[in-house]
Amino acid sequence: MRKQIVAGNWKMNNDLKASKFLVKQIIKKLKNNSLKNTRVIVAPTFVSLEKVAKKVKKTKVEVAAQNMHQVKKGAFTGEISAEMLKSVGVNIVILGHSERREYFCETDAILAQKVDAALKNNMEIIFCFGEVLEDRKSENQFNIVESQLKNGLFHLEASAWENIILAYEPVWAIGTGETASPEQAQEMHAFIRKIISNKYNREIAENVSILYGGSVKPANAKEIFSKEDVDGGLIGAAALDADNFVALVKSF
Ligand code: PGA
Repeated sequence: MRKQIVAGNWKMNNDLKASKFLVKQIIKKLKNNSLKNTRVIVAPTFVSLEKVAKKVKKTKVEVAAQNMHQVKKGAFTGEISAEMLKSVGVNIVILGHSERREYFCETDAILAQKVDAALKNNMEIIFCFGEVLEDRKSENQFNIVESQLKNGLFHLEASAWENIILAYEPVWAIGTGETASPEQAQEMHAFIRKIISNKYNREIAENVSILYGGSVKPANAKEIFSKEDVDGGLIGAAALDADNFVALVKSF
């Protein structure tokens, strides 16, 4: 059975002190929660990763990086490799977030390389993709999503999919307060499962967790998460507050 996942993408928020405080609060508030089939992941900035990874070590919370470079080491000023993330206890990485695609020019081709580098290091990947508003308006969202998946992930062997978590994030819903309706999310998630099933097989399509992202908050999470093919959320703004984030974890 596929897992439900609530992942908090802290983006460029929280210095070291604030990161340690936030993760401590989350751990405390989740203490008596059995979290049976739910994984809880937080993704702080690079500077806080090591300390947050230490804090979550004996807890049910997991830590992810927000990005990484595709090359192991070398003259890539400002970049961090999979090997470096592993060295501080990080085994999960978010790749392909729309902000990385838009502001840092990450193309599908670069992302495919990052995916390979992460998998080579036995890391799990939260792979993000989603259409912009113009695509949605022109009803081109399915083509866009299909091509992002094909270009970023469909070169993988079937066995690699054990380490893939998908995050469908319509760009028009990220940080805008606007969410896809639960029906729109369900429609896209079902489509994603269909194309994975066509390319690979039904088992892989059924086992991969597909998160929805884009202005998820406690007020709308229950309805979105209740949809058959929605297995949780990748959360931005609402993940910066421990009460909100824990409420989301309890929304299933
Ligand atoms: P948001 O961000 O929840 O603030 O819309 C989601 C994301 O970017 O992953």
